[in-house]
Amino acid sequence: MTTPAARAAELRRLIERANHAYYALDQPEISDAEYDRLFRELQALEAAHPELRTPDSPTGRVGAEPAPAFRKHRHVVPMLSLANAFNEAELGEWEERNARLVPEVRQAGYTLEVKIDGAAVSLTYEHGLFVTGATRGNGVEGEDVTANLRTVLDVPLRLQGSGWPERMEVRGEVYLSKSRFQKLNAERAQAGDPPFANPRNAAAGALRQLDPKVTRSRGLRIFCFHVEAPGQKLPVATQHDLLLQLAAWGFPVESRHTLTPDLAAANREIAKLEPLLDGLDYGADGVVVKVNPLALHRELGTVGDREPRWAIARKFAPEVQVTTLKEIRINVGRTGALNPYAVLEPVEIGGVTVSTATLHNFELIKAKDIREGDLVEVTRAGEVIPQVLGPVIKKGARRGKPYQPPDRCPVCRSKVERPPDEVMVYCPNVSCPGRVFESIVHFASRGAMDIRGLGPERVKALLDAKLIRDVADLYEITPMQLLTLEGFAEKSAGQLVAAIQASKRQPLSTLLFALGIRHVGAQGARPLARHFGKMEALAKASADEINQIRGIGEAIAAAVAGFFAEPKNRRLIDRLEQLGLNMTEPVATEGRGPLAGRTYVITGTLPTLSRARATEVIEAAGGHVTDGVSKQTAAVVAGADAGSKLAKAKALGVPVIDEAELLRRVQAQP
Ligand code: IVH
Repeated sequence: MTTPAARAAELRRLIERANHAYYALDQPEISDAEYDRLFRELQALEAAHPELRTPDSPTGRVGAEPAPAFRKHRHVVPMLSLANAFNEAELGEWEERNARLVPEVRQAGYTLEVKIDGAAVSLTYEHGLFVTGATRGNGVEGEDVTANLRTVLDVPLRLQGSGWPERMEVRGEVYLSKSRFQKLNAERAQAGDPPFANPRNAAAGALRQLDPKVTRSRGLRIFCFHVEAPGQKLPVATQHDLLLQLAAWGFPVESRHTLTPDLAAANREIAKLEPLLDGLDYGADGVVVKVNPLALHRELGTVGDREPRWAIARKFAPEVQVTTLKEIRINVGRTGALNPYAVLEPVEIGGVTVSTATLHNFELIKAKDIREGDLVEVTRAGEVIPQVLGPVIKKGARRGKPYQPPDRCPVCRSKVERPPDEVMVYCPNVSCPGRVFESIVHFASRGAMDIRGLGPERVKALLDAKLIRDVADLYEITPMQLLTLEGFAEKSAGQLVAAIQASKRQPLSTLLFALGIRHVGAQGARPLARHFGKMEALAKASADEINQIRGIGEAIAAAVAGFFAEPKNRRLIDRLEQLGLNMTEPVATEGRGPLAGRTYVITGTLPTLSRARATEVIEAAGGHVTDGVSKQTAAVVAGADAGSKLAKAKALGVPVIDEAELLRRVQAQP
């Protein structure tokens, strides 16, 4: 018989493993229902036997209740920032200054570390257990964001090995990977939320969320590089060994660190590292050079409470180009947000030709006084979307008029609204043709209802011809009506109507995403649909009930409940149902079926199945579909125009199959 203590330990292990597979690897190993069952069993055990509750329990990762505000945390030793050196000469001057205080530094060796561009945090460990996590704050005092840091799945809750000081603060940088950032922004755009400007802002924002569920959904990661344990002994004597020790204790340590004998060697290594930084999946804004022996750190000390003398950031200027801003244009999004962007004289930045760049919002245009006709600085550094940094003003040059943000929507002429605590400006008219157009384009798009042949141009043509006013009207279009439009022949008209009709079979999760409910991205729609199974059940649920679901935060819950509270939306759903759209989610076949436990990746255009349909087919056979190819991928299903995923599969030796082979496999007996 297993004791409650043994069972609790077992449950913690299973849940942590599932968390890792779900969040870090993006390759779920067990169903949501199974996860919930394990989780509830552990919660019940801990409630019955409070002595079994451990600080590293995954029940603590969820942070059940959002914090009303953050408590303050005083760092044992202030969190310092770093001085910068922009070239070899400045690095040389840094060594000169240090050598005047401590001559040995010249021969002591330097470690080089990638400087991670994220949000600085301090993790307190007592007897090897994670007890408190804090932001940098003003350096002396930060905010206690322990509950949020517990959701960062590579923060070790319990250390491995031995030899750690009884109480120590481990310093590191929390970041959002570039791939995760891109995915998150694509989801936000589709869910009608404003995009994050860059991964650093997104990471810092995620850390300071009051609801840890929101933090968790962002998928933050961490790298650690420093320890403070005043008055206690560390088992290592150099920075290089400290990094190895941190890794042995279970902390993620960036892998490209090196030890060099002197500054000349350091400069050669830096020259090798620099070109690699852009290609890393995390923002890296330089290389940190550190004196290797820890004893010399103590001797060199700090400059005020600001910077250590023993470390410096070797920075590289991001690529910035100057070009002419020809015009400021505005795109009206699905939510009505007015998004200003710059039309530029095309310019090459980092090997990519840039002809438009975001201007973020009107406040920024005003603050930087960006005008049409200006020469402007544009960059892509770290940021995926090119952005205008600001005007380059030549003395005496004539400039255009200051930019005047519109009072009215550029599409429907409604008076714009400016919600009090937002920088964005909105068109309030739900029937604004700009908004309606964007929402129908989204509805038909590949990640949504996947109606082939219904792109932006055709949506515009249908709207202009008054054949449709909303998405429900799509389902009543006949081939005869299409033939009245330019560019349609009998065959193409028939194909489009067939594609529209075929989309009726999409599962509930796809329909929910396609409807464009605020904050509901493709990822968020799945747990909603799986949990409720039917549109009707979801429509009746309260925000509180929705908020209980794993992976669904408060903002999504409120938006979903708000959507269904709106009579106009209810009428649209009723009409879609009458038109024959599927309002249910297929029940996941838990661990059964011919593809049980296998993960597939789909890439390119398959001959007959849409991507959504192929996903359904795989899931119905017990398999999983993910975006990223890894060694664990059972096979990549490749169609026409497959790109980097196919190349990656080949590189990793992952089998590549076609649609016919997939269909054969799903019919095979398990
Ligand atoms: S050492 C006393 N090493 O950069 C320790 N910092 O601009 C000083 N950072 O506050 C920091 N990667 O948040 C160090 N490998 C690294 C780093 C790193 C990123 C951050 C850190 C620091 C900031 C200074």
